[in-house]
Amino acid sequence: MKVGIDQIGYFTPNKYVDMVDLAHARNQDPNKFLIGIGQSKMSVADATQDAVSMGINATLRYLNKINKSKVGLLIFGTESSVDQSKSGSLFVKSALKLDPSVRAFEVKEACFGLTAGLMIAQDFVRLHPDQTAIVIGSDIARYGLKTAGEVTQGAGSVSLLISSNPRILELNEGHSAYSEDINDFWRPNNSKLAKVDGKYSTQVYLDFFKHTFNDYKEQKNLETKDFAAIVYHLPFTKMGLKANRIAIEGEDEETNARLMDSFTAAKELNANVGNIYTGSLYLSLLSLLENGDLKAGDLTGLFSYGSGAMAEFYSANVVEGYEKQIDKAGDEALLAKRKKLSVDEYERIFSEALEDPKNDVELVSDEDSGKYYFAGIKDDIRQYQAK
Ligand code: COA
Repeated sequence: MKVGIDQIGYFTPNKYVDMVDLAHARNQDPNKFLIGIGQSKMSVADATQDAVSMGINATLRYLNKINKSKVGLLIFGTESSVDQSKSGSLFVKSALKLDPSVRAFEVKEACFGLTAGLMIAQDFVRLHPDQTAIVIGSDIARYGLKTAGEVTQGAGSVSLLISSNPRILELNEGHSAYSEDINDFWRPNNSKLAKVDGKYSTQVYLDFFKHTFNDYKEQKNLETKDFAAIVYHLPFTKMGLKANRIAIEGEDEETNARLMDSFTAAKELNANVGNIYTGSLYLSLLSLLENGDLKAGDLTGLFSYGSGAMAEFYSANVVEGYEKQIDKAGDEALLAKRKKLSVDEYERIFSEALEDPKNDVELVSDEDSGKYYFAGIKDDIRQYQAK
């Protein structure tokens, strides 16, 4: 039985900063951000968008296309959790009006969270082929104003529906996982901003890529040239470019060109949304499906990395007619409709969003009608509602 990704929905908030403006404000050469880091724009979440509201909005992108009564599992992967105890899944379940019998919980391992959920969901669907699973990755990447990591921020969510006989990607059984207890990126409980050793993190990411990619190929008796495309976790697109260069080193010209072209297609959305932590790999997958040159049966490799650190390489095959399941026009509109912020506006919104609202202060969102948002705190309880 084939199990895999049947639907993909993504959401990013309605404001962004242009990297050229940010470079000027920080006295940097714009090409450092555009080429050296590989980012063009980054989405900014105001105080009314958080991991939960973005996760709801991402899932709403496909909810009317699926049979809600079949959803037996709802996993929320995040490193921007809104509560230390209650999972984001329960707020999502309530907003989406899913059946009370759904098993709902949250998982965490930095940017690996959505992949962790996907692997659990895959096993669940293999055991319960009549049921489906929703797996959400939703995050706001915050390193702080005027830090080296500032250019690698962003906000957004990706939601996947995992099912038997999927209509987008069939997951292949098997994977290569690798972990070590290290400190390349983390966020202590007393901080809303991440701590990062960016250069070390890049080195570990590349080491873990080599390890899992080579191990996977050996396990499965595959060669690099067998892959039509490889997608990477992209906290900033230059990081994936470095891994892709390692993947194609020493390969023939045709393989080189194919994997570079597919990488270019796969980084488009990420370069314009920024870092969305857990959802970044899957935003890149969506970008590949929308902008790449894939055909039915094509083998795609996926490299997931979460700091701390945990990595996994696995693969999937493209399903005939996958294009019909993807809303490319809607995805492009989401980006095109964003409001461009000046750097001053971005700094103000960024700082405001770091503060928790006081009890009973109602927040008002400027998102489009129908979008969910965080409306403030009443009696210490977070309130979510649709615009
Ligand atoms: N034109 C083109 N490229 C330029 C340039 C210019 N004018 N100026 C600099 N660059 C290049 C540098 O050569 C470098 O390229 P390289 O990585 O291929 O060597 C790149 O731009 C970045 O420059 P660098 O000086 O290393 O940047 P930095 O000290 O500001 O730090 C990061 C960059 C990525 C390390 C920093 O933004 C960071 O820590 N981000 C967070 C990383 C992260 O999220 N890690 C955890 C998640 S996995």
